Amino acid sequence: MKSLLSLFLAISLAAAIWPIPKEYTHGDTVIWIKEDVAFYWVVGVAGNADVKSDVYNRSLLHPHSAVGGKDEDDQVPHNASPTGDHVIDYAIKQTYKTIFHRNFVPWKFHPRNWDEPQDGEATYISCINLSLLKNHPENVTKPLAGEVDESYTLELTKEGEATISANSSVGIVRGLTTFTQLFFAHSSIDSAYTSLAPVSISDAPTFQHRGLNLDVARNYFSVGDIKRMIDACAYNKMNRFHLHVTDGQSWPLEIPALPELSEKGAYRPDLVYTVDDFRELQWHAAVQGVQLITEIDMPGHTSSIAYSYPDLIAAFNIQPNWDTYAAEPPSGTLKLNSSAVSAFLDTLFADLLPRILPYTSYFHTGGDEVNKMAYTLDNTVNSSDPAVLQPLMQKFVDRNHDQVRSLGLTPIVWEEMLLDWNLTLGEDVVVQSWQSDEAVAKIVGAGHKALVGNYEYWYLDCGKGQWLDFDPSVAANYWPYNDYCAPFHNWRLIYSYDPLSGVPLESQHLVLGGEAHMWAEQTDPVNLDRMVWPRAAAAAEVLWSGAKDAEGRNRSQIDASPRLSEMRERLVAMGVGAEPIQMPYCLMEGERCQVGYTG
Ligand SMILES: *[C@@H]1O[C@H](CO)[C@@H](O)[C@H](O)[C@H]1NC(C)=O
Ligand SMILES: *[C@@H]1O[C@H](CO)[C@@H](O)[C@H](O)[C@H]1NC(C)=O
Ligand SMILES: *[C@@H]1O[C@H](CO)[C@@H](O)[C@H](O)[C@H]1NC(C)=O
Ligand SMILES: *[C@@H]1O[C@H](CO)[C@@H](O)[C@H](O)[C@H]1NC(C)=O
Ligand SMILES: *[C@@H]1O[C@H](CO)[C@@H](O)[C@H](O)[C@H]1NC(C)=O
Ligand SMILES: *[C@@H]1O[C@H](CO)[C@@H](O)[C@H](O)[C@H]1NC(C)=O
Ligand SMILES: *[C@@H]1O[C@H](CO)[C@@H](O)[C@H](O)[C@H]1NC(C)=O
Ligand SMILES: *[C@@H]1O[C@H](CO)[C@@H](O)[C@H](O)[C@H]1NC(C)=O
Repeated sequence: MKSLLSLFLAISLAAAIWPIPKEYTHGDTVIWIKEDVAFYWVVGVAGNADVKSDVYNRSLLHPHSAVGGKDEDDQVPHNASPTGDHVIDYAIKQTYKTIFHRNFVPWKFHPRNWDEPQDGEATYISCINLSLLKNHPENVTKPLAGEVDESYTLELTKEGEATISANSSVGIVRGLTTFTQLFFAHSSIDSAYTSLAPVSISDAPTFQHRGLNLDVARNYFSVGDIKRMIDACAYNKMNRFHLHVTDGQSWPLEIPALPELSEKGAYRPDLVYTVDDFRELQWHAAVQGVQLITEIDMPGHTSSIAYSYPDLIAAFNIQPNWDTYAAEPPSGTLKLNSSAVSAFLDTLFADLLPRILPYTSYFHTGGDEVNKMAYTLDNTVNSSDPAVLQPLMQKFVDRNHDQVRSLGLTPIVWEEMLLDWNLTLGEDVVVQSWQSDEAVAKIVGAGHKALVGNYEYWYLDCGKGQWLDFDPSVAANYWPYNDYCAPFHNWRLIYSYDPLSGVPLESQHLVLGGEAHMWAEQTDPVNLDRMVWPRAAAAAEVLWSGAKDAEGRNRSQIDASPRLSEMRERLVAMGVGAEPIQMPYCLMEGERCQVGYTG
């Protein structure tokens, strides 16, 4: 047995964890973990700690439920925030499921005919101690950027004692996520093992806002699809899930005070997110330390309102020259100087915002791609003159933001409101950039907090080619039908993006983080998983670990690639249909798929 073990050690696995921790050392001792391992959850520092609970073991679990499925862990209290206790409880259950039921045998990461570790007189993990160093604040699951400390330390001794310490329950979650990534399934033994003991990790995020934006209006996704995306985000230590829930093409969000919005505006009356669905999604995110941020994009991208309230929308569905009035068909925008629109928005916000308040501190009011020409057909304005429109847009946004604030939320807007419309925005408003690094520099230059997500790097939809159909008379002009943001953004391109690129040192603190974007014109439930994963994980590592390594150099693809392949295997084991990024050959044979390697 001894000789088998040492043979194995000579070829032990690479670093394993994604995103890469700030400080990480490990050995090469194999230790095992069994399902009856006990978790101890203590509050307070060592020596002066209350044991909160030691009842976590498999008799309490339902380990065979898949991610995205409905299970007992998703019991949602009515309109209440998850507490820090809920968060830790949920994370412990996920940890069991991930290590014992959603794990994989790592043959791809070893040469042919590798020696899998054998059990023998192995060491088993005796306990996993979760040490919450401070009592969690009330709003632990809905902080503003930076309000919750997500740092953690993880120690795993050769003797099999594991300790995860953090200042918040969300930090404990991040530490447990890392912990699960140390372990592999075995092909014949009913326990999991790590070959990296002892392990010592001290970790914290670089950016406070680390998100994925999913457009669920161009195509409809089920609650299960969205939950699966949230789970994958959480597993990549992302802490924001931006739900772009309405757009010009459909309005799938049920608003009980305005029932026709989704009855008529959804693609089909049953392709909606009911009040219960929406609550379940928000809870599911929050309990994993992920804030679901809802966006109702306005005043552009609203033509689906015309199916129920035609008088509120100007320039609706102009054909065939829709492109004079909008970026996409159907054209249409909320009227800009209309008391009926104000009344409508009052009703919408009064219904919706209290239902998001338990789960987030933010509300996104959109504001991208507003087409001035549409207001020539707006009978409350009849003009495309910026001098006429700008003050009306200022009033429109001020009114909306005042209402958002009065309900206790912080507004987020797209960059155009600041940079193209020259609006004066409140200091609290977070400005989300998508067009360029120069835009980010301008936003922070104006003193605003910024979210990055440059479309040339972090748009996951790019490179699929056009979705518009071209008449034979013009088709040749568009050949070979590339989309505006081609080519497809390979994970390496996503990984090469530095959110601080072009931002002067003195303004870098205003870059809260960023989001990868999944616009869904050509993505539906069939290809969702592979369009998002594992590429969004590349953005997740940049946001958690930073674009530069500890020596200030650009992070190396050669270091990242096998770890990302491993994350991909873990996502697949969780039930997420993530794409491969390489052939097994490259992983099995180590350095043979590299170019220009200098060591
Ligand atoms: C598992 O938890 C149950 C309920 O608290 C307890 O009775 C049982 O002894 C525990 N088993 C182990 C192996 O800790
Ligand atoms: C883990 O917690 C248990 C129960 O409080 C305690 O007996 C044990 O010594 C702790 N182990 C470590 C490594 O802190
Ligand atoms: C969260 O709680 C902290 C401490 O109690 C408080 O300072 C902060 O304003 C709260 N934030 C939100 C968004 O409620
Ligand atoms: C917890 O907070 C303290 C400061 O109060 C800090 O030194 C430490 O790094 C934080 N994180 C962890 C995991 O202890
Ligand atoms: C815009 O034009 C229409 C039609 O000519 C007219 O009825 C309306 O009063 C005009 N609106 C404004 C604000 O001038
Ligand atoms: C806005 O509407 C009011 C009437 O509701 C009208 O008096 C005013 O001229 C309009 N403003 C513009 C710029 O058209
Ligand atoms: C914003 O300012 C720029 C530069 O001064 C100007 O070109 C643009 O027309 C303004 N936008 C609006 C909507 O007033
Ligand atoms: C690091 O990456 C940036 C892109 O983020 C690139 O512009 C720069 O040239 C790279 N630096 C080196 C030394 O390769």
